[in-house]
This record gives sequence, structure tokens and C-alpha cells, in this order.
Amino acid sequence: MSRARGDGDGLQGVIDFVEDAVPFEPGYYNEAYLGRRVAARMQRRDADDHDDYRRILERDDDEREALLDALTINVTGFFRDPDMWADLRPVLRELCEENGRAGVDVWSAPCADGREPYSLSMLAADDRGVDERRVRITAIDISEEALAAARAGVYETTRTTNIGEELSPLSDPTAYVEQEEDVFRVRESVKSRIEFEQYDLVRDGPKADMDLVFCRNLLIYIDTEYKGRLFETLRDSLRPGGYLVLGKTETVPPGMREEFEPVAKRSRIYRYTG
Ligand SMILES: C[S@@+](CC[C@H](N)C(=O)[O-])C[C@H]1O[C@@H](n2cnc3c(N)ncnc32)[C@H](O)[C@@H]1O
Repeated sequence: MSRARGDGDGLQGVIDFVEDAVPFEPGYYNEAYLGRRVAARMQRRDADDHDDYRRILERDDDEREALLDALTINVTGFFRDPDMWADLRPVLRELCEENGRAGVDVWSAPCADGREPYSLSMLAADDRGVDERRVRITAIDISEEALAAARAGVYETTRTTNIGEELSPLSDPTAYVEQEEDVFRVRESVKSRIEFEQYDLVRDGPKADMDLVFCRNLLIYIDTEYKGRLFETLRDSLRPGGYLVLGKTETVPPGMREEFEPVAKRSRIYRYTG
């Protein structure tokens, strides 16, 4: 990252400050990502350079909050990338049909405000070929705030988010949410299949024997140094023959491609061959 004139510690100074002052671990994320987010806030605040912006951060609580908000990549949605969810239906049916399997264990990691695991829970109930009573979902995120929103399961249509439209892949959304004007509450039947848990995917290591793991739209932000370890966590959480779903622009690292066979390549659904 090039330094502006008079830009003392530059972006690193801002990052160090953020590390000490707000509950965020910048070390996991790549510098290009951090740089873009910080630059956007600097522009909003008319800061001349990184040092100037750091001084704003030091004196302004609101700006610290705004920066934290900008750094936490919490964008999500119900049925984000609808084609993937369509391709997932046969996978879920097959997992439910497999003889001798006690249930289907799914890991939504990370789950942000819960719309990803709720989509899965709703899809399981919506699809006639899936026995939703066999599906168990563990949904994790590093952010307590995201988890609180996820547990509450209340979403609102705003200028930028149309919840009714997000739920359109379902045959009857009202079976899964209670709607009052622009507010949508996820029903207990949908919630009952999910356990939420705080978890750091870089630090906390793998789960075990998962049949289906979602890790979407986190790897793109993670620094190369941590990416390999995070991917090992995902792999080691799967039982052989289990499935992995990545975000639309994410791929299996070259060193692990032999272990993951694409099932629906464009949708980023892979089978772990073990
Ligand atoms: C862009 S959201 C992705 C949500 C969902 N998977 C999706 O694709 O819509 C990224 C989430 O990753 C969480 N996160 C960031 N670092 C994490 C970590 N080390 N362990 C677990 N979750 C993390 C953030 O709190 C945020 O909620």
C-alpha cells in the first residue's frame, strides 16, 4: 500500500489502533481488504491521510463504531446465490436417503445474522424429498452481535433489503416466517433445527463427522497466512463423502483439489472424497 505524504505509520498505524481499540482481529484479514475499507471511511470523513484518520478515530467514538461496522463483513441474505440452493436440493435429498445414517449434520460456518442456516432449515422443510426431522444444523460465527441477531430471527425489509423477495425460492414462505408489514419473524419450527454457537474458524479447529459444511464468503477476506489452516479445519470437519459449499467466488486451494470433487462446479458444491 503506497503511503500518502506525511503519512507516518500509514495504514498499519490505523490497523494497530483498531486492534487495541475495538473488538476486531485485523490480523486474519488481507491488507488489500482492510485498506479498501479504511480508505472508504477516510473518504467519508475527509481525512487527508492515515495519520489524520487515526486522530479522528482517537477522539470520535462514533467513527470507531462506523469503522468496526465497515470492517465486519456481515453481508448475507436468505437464499443468497439462488442457483446454489437449487443445486443443493438433490444433495440434501441424497443425504437424507442414505441408509444407516442417524441424521444429517450440517455446519453453517460462518452464519452471520442467521439467514444462511435458516435458509437451509426452510429448504429442508420445503422440499418433499427431504425429511427435515433428520436435519440438524450447527451455526457459528465469531461475532456475538451477529449471533444475537441470528438467535432472534427477526428481519426487516428496508430500502436495500427485500426479505419477501429473498424468500421467493420457497413454495410457501408463510409456513416458515410470520410477517407483519415489513417485519419477518422466523417460526419456532424453523429455529428448532439450529443451534447457534460462538466460534472462531481460525482458532477453534475442526468439528467432526459433518455431512455438509457451508463456508461461504469468508475465505475471500482471509489473509493467505490463515487460509490454509482454515481450509484444513473445513476438511477435517467433514466425514468422507460429505459435502462442502463455498461462496460463489471462492475455490478449493490447489493443494487440496484431489480431495474435493466438484458436484456442481458453478455453485461451488464439492464432495470430500476422503
Ligand atoms: C460475509 S458474512 C458470510 C455469511 C454467510 N456465510 C453468507 O455467505 O451469506 C462473513 C461472516 O464471517 C464472520 N467471521 C469473520 N471472521 C471469522 C472467524 N475467524 N471465525 C468465524 N466467523 C468469522 C463475520 O462475523 C461475518 O458474520
